[in-house]
Amino acid sequence: MRKQIVAGNWKMNNDLSQTESLIEALKAKEKTSNAEVMVAPTFTNLYQANQALKESNIEVIAQNMHFAENGAYTGEISASMLKSIGVETVILGHSERRAYFNETDEQLAKKVDAALANNMRVIFCFGEELADRKSGNHEAVVESQIKNALFHLKAEAFKNVVLAYEPVWAIGTGETASPEQAQDMHAFIRKTLADTYGNEVADEVTILYGGSVKPNNAQEIFSKADVDGGLIGGASLNADDFFAIVNAI
Ligand code: G3P
Repeated sequence: MRKQIVAGNWKMNNDLSQTESLIEALKAKEKTSNAEVMVAPTFTNLYQANQALKESNIEVIAQNMHFAENGAYTGEISASMLKSIGVETVILGHSERRAYFNETDEQLAKKVDAALANNMRVIFCFGEELADRKSGNHEAVVESQIKNALFHLKAEAFKNVVLAYEPVWAIGTGETASPEQAQDMHAFIRKTLADTYGNEVADEVTILYGGSVKPNNAQEIFSKADVDGGLIGGASLNADDFFAIVNAI
């Protein structure tokens, strides 16, 4: 059975005090689903968040990392630094990193390798722009993104890789992909994996959907056969909304 995951990507939100308040609210919520729950605070709050959630069923994860182990990369954070504070999972390739910081498939392949070499779990993000979908090019774009950054990996590496399909046109817009659109793309992604790595590997890879998931649409999206959970932005900043989504799976 594939792992089901609901992860909250806080993006650049919450200072230390706000982080502590949200964590206390999250700790008070009851998880009634089988989903693994994760939250991704900003770097400045990772250590405290991890300490506060150590005894909970909520994993604290990072929003990004650099591919180098250390060195002259001002402002960056390495995998071993994340591991040193107990962070074992990292989001890579988010569309905002690709758009605002020009992250390329090649750079992301190096980040994936660095994370896996440090025995971290990767949540790898990808997704098409609105123009790609309107032109019917969305599958080709997604195939290229995952092949360029992941298909150099050996099959066994995928036990530490979670995929997150986030159509850019649905992120932060309130314009959620329909459950059918999500299922169609997730099925395409799983087939793309199977064509290269075989069904046994493809069937075990968790594929999350991200893009305007809310309490009122989560259940229908999560009910789809190839949707194994969600990567949640805005709704993860409210404990009630986030756990309504966690418990919708
Ligand atoms: O990484 C998740 C994020 O991109 C989705 O954002 O606000 O549309 O849930 P949002």
